[in-house]
Amino acid sequence: MRDFYPADMAWREKVFGAFRDAARGAAFEPYDACVVESFELLSRKAGEEVSEQIYHFLDKSERHLALRPEMTPTLARMVAQRQKELSFPLKWTTIAQCFRYERMTKGRKREHYQWNLDIVGEDSVLAEVEVIGTAVDALRRMGLTTADFKVHVSSRRMLGEMLAESGIPPERHAQVFLALDKRGKMPDEEIAAMLRDGGLGDAEVAATFAIMDTKDFSRCPELVELFRLAEVAGFADALVFDIGVIRGLSYYTGIVFECFDTKGEFRAIFGGGRYDNLLTTIGGEPTGAVGLGFGDVVVTELLKARLGEDAATEPKGIAVGFMTPGERECALRLARRLRSEGECVALALRPQKPKKFFARAGETSAKAVFVGPDDVAKGVARLKDLATREETEICLAPAKS
Ligand code: HAM
Repeated sequence: MRDFYPADMAWREKVFGAFRDAARGAAFEPYDACVVESFELLSRKAGEEVSEQIYHFLDKSERHLALRPEMTPTLARMVAQRQKELSFPLKWTTIAQCFRYERMTKGRKREHYQWNLDIVGEDSVLAEVEVIGTAVDALRRMGLTTADFKVHVSSRRMLGEMLAESGIPPERHAQVFLALDKRGKMPDEEIAAMLRDGGLGDAEVAATFAIMDTKDFSRCPELVELFRLAEVAGFADALVFDIGVIRGLSYYTGIVFECFDTKGEFRAIFGGGRYDNLLTTIGGEPTGAVGLGFGDVVVTELLKARLGEDAATEPKGIAVGFMTPGERECALRLARRLRSEGECVALALRPQKPKKFFARAGETSAKAVFVGPDDVAKGVARLKDLATREETEICLAPAKS
């Protein structure tokens, strides 16, 4: 599991800040739930990778519980529980701590924070546009552009239709999707073997691979509409059609998407899609839904690579230091006054030589005041802008209280 030292927290705050600002900008309402869920709710989708990665345990009353590997089943449970009272469509967001017992690789950890955006109760593709557009907005707020990333989109419905036209019956599609999702992660021969295990003959396996070369999505009205509306919403340059996007979770029913860095160096930045049947499978009324999960791990690696390791720690506020014990109270009084004016003040805790004080101040603060005996005598010190080296006078008079 992860420890967050202050330098790591600076990155987390930068990333979470963009998540929250983007969600607020698009009027998603925050919600939350406990990280412990019933194992049964989380594991109902057998055959999926995440199902096998769940941390689970029995509590003292022998209840079978688990740490959530994702938020979507919890969201579906919460919505189904209050389906009569809630007004739809609802737009909900959360930053959920998730746990997956998976092999630790670049971009994949056993614990991660996952920003979730979901719109429940809307069949129109405008829901996809809002969800994807908000995630693109967050990436832009973090300092990336569409030259750094692309959202790869496809449609499981379209792929299902194409498989059916090749003679592969719908009841085999879930298996085919799970196998095709492994493309790029394992050799094609192994995927072919998985397809044969799923009941496909040689001709059907060949047809399936041929379908995966499709570059044209004009037969899929919802994809055509998505690309058109993305133009209006201002993020069409972030979208690419990619029939290879399948998604490993079996609840997706329509448009699916996954965001990658353009250089192909990192794992998926975020992923999601439409899942119109999940609520019914847990006892709710039929309700269309679309959403995504956006982890903190990959995007932080990408930001460090593109913006620099130190890009999260901007010097801010004012450092206040003093030369001898005689100026200690004067410095403390100045800190009190500046803080009451809303400033962030890093007060030195012991007397220092000016050189040492300014060296440390330069790492964390934008400005600095160093109080020596002469300054106390004059009642005025110098406030130095550490970037421009400009100096202004600052009064050392006590705060009016
Ligand atoms: P997912 O593709 O399994 O989808 O995960 C979504 C994102 O979470 C990934 O793209 C990645 O950023 C991050 N992530 C997943 N596992 C890890 C890990 N072990 N370490 C670091 N980051 C990770 C879902 O979970 C769906 N529930 C998303 C969703 C919400 N669909 C509809 N609404």
